[in-house]
Amino acid sequence: MSTAPSERIAELRDLIRKHDYHYYVEDDPQLPDQAYDALMRELRELESLHPELITSESPTQRVSGTPLSAFSPAEHVVPMLSLDNAFSEDDMEGFVRRCRDRLKLPATADIEFMAEPKLDGIAISLLYENGKLSRAATRGDGQTGENITANARTIGAIPLQLTGEGIPERLEVRGEVVMAKASFEAFNERARAKDEKPFVNPRNAAAGSLRQLDARVTAKRSLDCYCYSIGLLEGQDWPETHEEALEALKCWGFRVNPEIRKVSGLSGMSEYYEHMLIRRDGLDYDIDGLVFKINRRDWQETLGFVARAPRWAIAHKFPAQEALTVVENIEFQVGRTGAVTPVAKLKPVFVGGVTVSNATLHNMDEIDRLDVRIGDSVMVRRAGDVIPQVVKVITESRPADAKKPEMPTQCPVCQAAIEREEGQAVARCSGGISCAAQRKEALKHFVSRKAMDIDGLGDKLIDQLVDRNWVKSPAELFGLEAPALALLERMGKKSSEKLVQAIQNAKTTTLARFIYALGIREVGEATAKGLAGYFGSLAAVREATLEQLQEVPDVGGVVAGHVETFFKQVHNIEVVDALISVGVVWPESSPSSDGEGTEQDLPLDGLTVVLTGSLEAMSRDVAGAHLESLGAKVAGSVSKKTAWVVAGPGAGSKLAKAESLGVDVYDEAWLLALLERYGISA
Ligand code: IVH
Repeated sequence: MSTAPSERIAELRDLIRKHDYHYYVEDDPQLPDQAYDALMRELRELESLHPELITSESPTQRVSGTPLSAFSPAEHVVPMLSLDNAFSEDDMEGFVRRCRDRLKLPATADIEFMAEPKLDGIAISLLYENGKLSRAATRGDGQTGENITANARTIGAIPLQLTGEGIPERLEVRGEVVMAKASFEAFNERARAKDEKPFVNPRNAAAGSLRQLDARVTAKRSLDCYCYSIGLLEGQDWPETHEEALEALKCWGFRVNPEIRKVSGLSGMSEYYEHMLIRRDGLDYDIDGLVFKINRRDWQETLGFVARAPRWAIAHKFPAQEALTVVENIEFQVGRTGAVTPVAKLKPVFVGGVTVSNATLHNMDEIDRLDVRIGDSVMVRRAGDVIPQVVKVITESRPADAKKPEMPTQCPVCQAAIEREEGQAVARCSGGISCAAQRKEALKHFVSRKAMDIDGLGDKLIDQLVDRNWVKSPAELFGLEAPALALLERMGKKSSEKLVQAIQNAKTTTLARFIYALGIREVGEATAKGLAGYFGSLAAVREATLEQLQEVPDVGGVVAGHVETFFKQVHNIEVVDALISVGVVWPESSPSSDGEGTEQDLPLDGLTVVLTGSLEAMSRDVAGAHLESLGAKVAGSVSKKTAWVVAGPGAGSKLAKAESLGVDVYDEAWLLALLERYGISA
């Protein structure tokens, strides 16, 4: 007997809602994307055959195709307030003391707070009537916002229909809509490529995307939403604590931030602050501080509100990631591939936790787009590891003598001509390796951590080695001797001996590191790994045709062209040969690209292994390359799929994880014996 369409439709909607819950609320997807898409497809097909069964809460009905001409005002049922800010430990101490005094608690009492990241996005109010989303609004002035229901419906993390038990008759939930950092970067990259205006930061991107009159535009912007409080609750009892309120929100299907913790007293609050300050850069979204909220609802009620902020909560702000400063000069720097990049020299400013005095301006097109001039006041942004950027010029404060920068015609370092190819944004010094700036940058890249990983050979030393003409090409690094190095600034006998040892140790490497170290244009770490894995030997990469190169995953025509050109140039071949003749070596393997595409039978095929802690006879990279040459997949983290773990001294969390999952753990001697069996010796 076949199921009636209405039953299957109801079943599919429930299934999709269940998987939305796993994905958004629990952050633990239970279905691959394709399987989820298949459910949606089936539902869409059934609904198109039975349009009378479509309801506005159906997961297929998120995007409305009718743009608005304006947003209508939305009066808040309960005003949306703001928070008082704290900028220091002292401010926090004052806040806790005031709470304690008003609650008439003894000075020794530690109050329980819920500690939450303060998301840097746009506040949203979501109204649900009998479990269905009936209205979404922006904060506006706190009393009246804008009705943005059609746009909010396109955000997957906002449930159209509540799930779970005890669904209230009326519920208003507050949260923050954010754009993930990665989506923001990707959006801006696309905008720049199309010569369109990028967003200044993820907050503006979220706000701009949420306030689109055409919901189809919002739907394409991958917005996210985290909910953090209940504004109105009818038909159910109020939870007694904020912690329980957050739990209830999760049960009803809202995404609640997983970083939220319960803390106690000032010491708990400052511990969380330190912890989150470190976590900040690693989070997917921007946060501009933390919010601490008294957990007990009766205490919240006793404390009440003052002006437009609650007395029971406070925002402890982080150092700002944006600041205003002045462009004192614009200089042109030459990179390792000769690219000439304009750099703004700034009046030093404290931003994103450090003092910044340089910001990249990318290229002349970016200078034109920003319309930045020497003397301008600018907004700079430094978020995490990203190089500081000038994001905006304050044109209103432009001095009369502000000067427009011009691209020099000659390289500021070697005086060779600067050339800019038709249609290219980047200008380049034509001096090649005869340009000291390019040589320095090429060497800095060659020794860097992900390349040859020569410890102790910093930028300042390389500058000196090139300025003294001691090192003209990478192979000459391996001929450096300790007594000579000891003559350089900031070097002594001990440090130069240590450096020579580090240089010699680096001779044993992996093919992927070697290819990456060569600094071929647009060949990053991942591409180098791809090339090494696919071809197995340097000779094979060198001889590969454009077509063969493009068979490597993620290698397109442009990158293949750069690789081919690199190995056609005599001076590059000289560099490579010189490195090999001074003794740079790596384990080579048979190519994973076997002509007919037949599967090779390697002894460790299908095994995923993890190396952790330090090894004595060889580095982890080299050991990993050997294991890969035997067919194993070397992973960075331990899971149930890990076949075995090799742990050396200093192994920590990965070893613990392996033990907790019951994964076999071996030591280095075991690994060496295994390699030995396949004819590989240390
Ligand atoms: S609670 C009365 N919690 O910060 C309580 N706000 O400066 C008010 N925000 O308008 C809000 N993350 O947009 C709260 N975990 C969080 C938050 C948060 C971000 C924003 C929200 C609010 C603003 C107040």
